[in-house]
Amino acid sequence: MKYEPVLLKNVGVEGSRTLRVYESRGGYAAARKALTQMSPEAVVEEVKKSNLRGRGGAGFPTGVKWGFLPKDRDVTYLCVNFDESEPGTFNNRYLVEHDPHMLLEGILIAGFATKTVTAYIYIRVEFHEVFHILQRALDEAYAAGYFGKNIFGTDYSLDCYIHRGAGAYVCGEETGLMESLEGKRGWPRIKPPFPAIEGLFRKPTVVNNVETLACLPHIIERGADWFTSIGTPGSAGPKLYTTSGPVNRPGCFEAPLGLTVRELIYGDDFSRGMVGNKKVKGVIPGGLSVGILTGDELDCRLDFEDVRNYGLLGLGTAGAIVLNEDADIRRVLANVARFYAHESCGQCTHCREGTGWMYQIARRIADGAGREVDLDLIIELTFNMGMMPGLSICGLPDGAAYPIRTIVQKYRAEFEEHIRREEAARVEAAIKSRVPAAYSLPIWGQFVPQGKQATGGLGVA
Ligand SMILES: Cc1cc2nc3c(=O)[nH]c(=O)nc-3n(C[C@H](O)[C@H](O)[C@H](O)COP(=O)(O)O)c2cc1C
Ligand code: SF4
Repeated sequence: MKYEPVLLKNVGVEGSRTLRVYESRGGYAAARKALTQMSPEAVVEEVKKSNLRGRGGAGFPTGVKWGFLPKDRDVTYLCVNFDESEPGTFNNRYLVEHDPHMLLEGILIAGFATKTVTAYIYIRVEFHEVFHILQRALDEAYAAGYFGKNIFGTDYSLDCYIHRGAGAYVCGEETGLMESLEGKRGWPRIKPPFPAIEGLFRKPTVVNNVETLACLPHIIERGADWFTSIGTPGSAGPKLYTTSGPVNRPGCFEAPLGLTVRELIYGDDFSRGMVGNKKVKGVIPGGLSVGILTGDELDCRLDFEDVRNYGLLGLGTAGAIVLNEDADIRRVLANVARFYAHESCGQCTHCREGTGWMYQIARRIADGAGREVDLDLIIELTFNMGMMPGLSICGLPDGAAYPIRTIVQKYRAEFEEHIRREEAARVEAAIKSRVPAAYSLPIWGQFVPQGKQATGGLGVA
């Protein structure tokens, strides 16, 4: 049976960004139902029952997270994470670009359930057009009385503001986001305290991703049982997937959680195969931070469980970056490492230095001056950073470790072949030019005596 879209149901409908069209297709009925017929606690229970898990990357159960808010709180804030800076990911942008009111209705329901007084939508600064689309929709919703005082004639009031970020990856991390919202440098905070206890302006705060919130109107309208009937047992509900790279139809698609990578790349409803029928060399399936799948691992299901069987960090954002057979894996590694070295905020030594060292090693390999020992060295570094071993404030270095480690482990033979060939070429060139081999290893384009090559900026030899 053909899957009927839930989150993208209004895409392609003329005027889908307007309140008039959104309402004509049942919009804001779920929010009205929640606010006028349900208590906040009942909404939280329904969301818990639906097993909705956060779509921002970590997959934490949404209702459970809301349940951490202290019972006796005076003020609650809701931060809507629309930073979406994970490479290869654009499902939030696509959704809001076409259907901004679905997000706004989700915010209204989440706000009511968590007794939020003010919601802040933190949008990354590069989304210029989407910012204006969303602001227009918010103005319309205010004018209709869906935000502001006494919504639907109840005593619930909610204000909502859109705040534009300044373009840093780490501002997508929830506490970096809150620092940035408060007007400070977007440096993640040490936890605990967790945001539910002490978040924005030191008050209890909920942070949720755009897609997570967009699921709420549907859960309230159709019920938790309907929601859990979609997807796989531990991974309920619809999901937005994106593809980029040399596929025939890159884009944003909707399917139940648990779609295989093969279906996403080759399915008629999805990306319809590779350009020029080239082979898939690899897929980074969840945004960059989850790690890589080889061309032999395309049966991996994109849900919260199966990805772990393939050595990935998690589902992530389900934004798939596809590589074809022509991709040079050394350049892929260097690009990945460069991103994290650039985006580390620098507070934690292991992250700041580790991402920098990984980039230096990756660049050396890509520049043709790699050594076999570099492969072990870079893998070792990936185990010496991150929240998992308790060595950092936020998860950015965990997200750096997984793609780098899995790329080196899964394509090791290819790296070794390149390195051996380059070493052989260097020796041959040295013999021909009669320069002693000890002086022939190029480091950053210079000739330096052996024994000094790797000590410089790396601090490791
Ligand atoms: C470095 C880093 C960047 C992140 N970027 C984003 C982001 O752009 N969008 C997002 O929703 N979550 C991002 N997250 C996850 C958030 O910290 C948080 O878990 C999420 O917004 C919670 O929402 P959810 O429970 O609805 O998924 C990031 C986490 C880290 C460590
Ligand atoms: S782990 Fe890295 S990005 Fe996160 S706070 Fe520490 S230095 Fe900054």
